[in-house]
Amino acid sequence: MERLPGFRDFFPEPLPKGEAWSADVREYIFDRWQTVARRYAFQAYDGPPLEPLDLYTAKSGEEIVGQLYNFTDKGERAVSMRPEMTPTVARMIAARERHYKKPIKWYSIPQLFRYERQQKGRLREHFQFNADIFGENDPAADAELIALLIDVLRSFELTADDFVIRLSSRNAWQDFFSAHCSDDSKAYDFYQAVDKIERTPPEESDKKFQALGFTLEQVRNFIDSGEPTEELQAVLDNLAARGLGDYVKIDYNVIRGLAYYTGVVYEAFDRHGKFRAIAGGGRYDQLVSLVSDGKNDLPAAGFAMGDVVLAELLKDRKLLPEFNQSIDAFVLIEDESLRAASLGLVQQIRDFGLNAEYSVVPQKPDKQFKRALEMGALYSARLTGPQEAVIKNLSTREESTWPLAKVAEQLV
Ligand code: HAM
Repeated sequence: MERLPGFRDFFPEPLPKGEAWSADVREYIFDRWQTVARRYAFQAYDGPPLEPLDLYTAKSGEEIVGQLYNFTDKGERAVSMRPEMTPTVARMIAARERHYKKPIKWYSIPQLFRYERQQKGRLREHFQFNADIFGENDPAADAELIALLIDVLRSFELTADDFVIRLSSRNAWQDFFSAHCSDDSKAYDFYQAVDKIERTPPEESDKKFQALGFTLEQVRNFIDSGEPTEELQAVLDNLAARGLGDYVKIDYNVIRGLAYYTGVVYEAFDRHGKFRAIAGGGRYDQLVSLVSDGKNDLPAAGFAMGDVVLAELLKDRKLLPEFNQSIDAFVLIEDESLRAASLGLVQQIRDFGLNAEYSVVPQKPDKQFKRALEMGALYSARLTGPQEAVIKNLSTREESTWPLAKVAEQLV
């Protein structure tokens, strides 16, 4: 049986030939995401991987709705696998925000599903680090999120030469749109055309803009002006105060494809432009109200970073560490009459907080020893009687004998 296209198996290192996705790399990435989020005082949350279809159809915009993994369940409910986390967290916040002090700072690492055309950096399943702040409409909250985004990328040893945050504003685009067009129903199509501008041939973009009453040249001129609005200047100043000014630039090419954004928006890209967006996000002040039918209302902002582009980028820059399984002690069972006592030793070592391996079934002593070396064990330990063991440092080959109860503490 083959796996479905666009889905991944994650194997432990060293990877089998032909397999690209490493469970060790995934663990490494998740660990960094969590560590830096906690450093910024974000709290973990999670939600269901399956949601009512309605949660997405009205709120996320056509592009993502066209990519839904949706079906009717056995209870005749229209449901969808989650393609993104933002509607879920907005629903959770709308229901329970009173319980939490503001601003609410939450993070999550969901697995998401989008029926996309498979290509470099885009799969049908991916993991995302999501970080969001609720209950604060000052641009300082956007700056806090962007600082977190920068520090997450820096925690992988990426520098200002490797990536940049392209900062823009839906408000700025809204003002531009309103100055030239009074028909608000065209705004979504206009934003979509801007979102695709860098990936679309100019003649095609021009045609789309003409149909909406604009010209490509007009739009280009606005992008080239690159003047920060007041809110963007506040974000720039905030980041400069942290010494993070080199990681951001104003870039009105960015507008974000999702429908719910309302203010500051941004995307993180590698400096050489070789990869798809590493991360994207922005302010979405109306979504909490939208998912709660107006019962609740709270300003919101956040971003998400996918694991696919990030792993490709880290591989490209040779920034992934080597992953070797590390075993503290391999317990050799050379005399099967001592198996029960040896299991006691394995347990003692594990209870002490170290990791221990052994042969679960009888095996020739040389085979066991070979396995210990293959696994890179630091020590071997073998019982020489029911109450005594010899431990061996496998790099210096030094041996010493200890009472059984004292073995684990010798292994640190
Ligand atoms: P998004 O731009 O759709 O935003 O996705 C964020 C990141 O997830 C992208 O920059 C990319 O790295 C990754 N990503 C998206 N789709 C795929 C895919 N098919 N395969 C691999 N990676 C992918 C959102 O999802 C918003 N909900 C982010 C957000 C959070 N806004 C506010 N809070």
